[in-house]
Amino acid sequence: MTEWIEVAKIDDIGPGGLTVRVGEEEVLLVRDGDKVYALAGLCSHQEMELQGGHVEGGAWVCPHHGAKFDLSTGDALSMPAIEAISVFDVRVEAGKVSVLIR
Ligand code: FES
Repeated sequence: MTEWIEVAKIDDIGPGGLTVRVGEEEVLLVRDGDKVYALAGLCSHQEMELQGGHVEGGAWVCPHHGAKFDLSTGDALSMPAIEAISVFDVRVEAGKVSVLIR
């Protein structure tokens, strides 16, 4: 089933991101300026939480060993990660953030 699920208010997303659970998925919400992105909550390197990292040049930097992931595609851009992480469609309406789960 594919559906939009409201998960947070945009103001709840701090500089270190916000992890929310959507069904079986852990999803990390990230703000980069006016844009919001939704990434997998766990790093592809050692399955550690990505919350607590930061945005740098259109990428999310893992707080543990510094791997970078493209905010739009989830591609791993730097070591020690070599595998991409999932990304989810996200929308913001009236300050409320929804994620599309397939
Ligand atoms: S757990 Fe993310 S870079 Fe190691």
